[in-house]
Amino acid sequence: MNYNYASRMANLNGTATREIFKLLGNPEIISFAGGNPAIECLPAQRVKEITADITSSPSFPRVLQYGLTPGFPEFREMLTEYVKTVGITDAKTENVLVISGGQQGIDLALKTFINPGDVILVENPTYLAFLQIANSYEAVCKGVNADDDGLDLADLEEKIIRYNPKILYCVPTFSNPTGKTYTAERRKKIAEITAKYGVIVIEDDPYSKLRFKGDYVPSMKSMDEAGNVIFVSSFSKIISPGNRTGVACATPELIRKMEICKQGTDLHTPNLSQMITYEYLKRGYLEPDLKKAVKIYGEKKACMSDAIAKYMPKEFECTDPDGGLFIWGKFPKGIDVLKIFPEAIEKKVAYIQGSVFFAEPEGTENYIRFNYSYANAEQIDTGIKRLGELFGEKLMNLNK
Ligand SMILES: Cc1ncc(COP(=O)(O)O)c(C=O)c1O
Repeated sequence: MNYNYASRMANLNGTATREIFKLLGNPEIISFAGGNPAIECLPAQRVKEITADITSSPSFPRVLQYGLTPGFPEFREMLTEYVKTVGITDAKTENVLVISGGQQGIDLALKTFINPGDVILVENPTYLAFLQIANSYEAVCKGVNADDDGLDLADLEEKIIRYNPKILYCVPTFSNPTGKTYTAERRKKIAEITAKYGVIVIEDDPYSKLRFKGDYVPSMKSMDEAGNVIFVSSFSKIISPGNRTGVACATPELIRKMEICKQGTDLHTPNLSQMITYEYLKRGYLEPDLKKAVKIYGEKKACMSDAIAKYMPKEFECTDPDGGLFIWGKFPKGIDVLKIFPEAIEKKVAYIQGSVFFAEPEGTENYIRFNYSYANAEQIDTGIKRLGELFGEKLMNLNK
């Protein structure tokens, strides 16, 4: 059969991480590729307890019924409190939408705004699945440069003037893939510049609670005076990715538009998932569990940084994040990380090539992303040692 696909399918491939997931069925492979939380941080016992309570309640059949698209009211109410933890102090119920993970929040924002050919600005580099969603709406993504403090403001403004984008997408805290965080000053300026030109900002924040050092920085949404920032957060990395719950926060008008888009997508986030997250938060489990998780991630990150210092060639440069799940690295030009990938798999180590995180990937084949949350300390040491040997050999050949 010769299928006559929609034009949006022309540029769509499975994302690199999703494809690599298929390899991970092999337990011998040490994976630095995905963005999975540590298995030991998933609150299996708590969810068992909560689910038993929900399913034994006389009102349980109601959970099995259809629910409201924006989420069940008590949960939305609770989320108006939850977003205060990122500095959003004035949210009302009509400002929040329950979403089936951050991925859906991004998708709904794009569904609300993007026509084929519209331009979206993204950080260079950015979350690769964002690029996939943008492709599915036939948007054109343009990269904005960034330094250690966040987006380059001159480049941002120049590109807003040049491309007239509808949206700026960014991950200001512990970015995926770089692990970097924008300063408060930079956030404020980004909110001001985008407001001045009427650009919508999607502030994607799945990682800010995973801080193991440094000081809290308030969300960009908390600095939004014009109403152009859509804040999207998720419980995936701090409770469970499989439970698929998150929150979007924006003006009531935008939340209503996203709600209408959500009707067409999945009617509502599964009631049982909403109830589990609601009860988990209500019972006060997040704080102590996060404390443990953050400690674990801080240790794993330290373990990976130590292994990199010990085993990676001295030419390798990488970030030193204060939180989140990723280290971002760069080899000298001439090292093609994707071409070397099959040899890494032979050595039973998986990573992800950095080029997939760029809107314009030419000349980025020497970048690499490592996830440190999934593997254990011993695997991190062994995996980085094997990669250090492999890349060391490649660099030697390059310099011959
Ligand atoms: C930056 C970023 N945004 C969004 C997501 C989507 O996560 P979820 O839909 O599970 O909340 C991820 C997942 O890795 C991510 O890294």
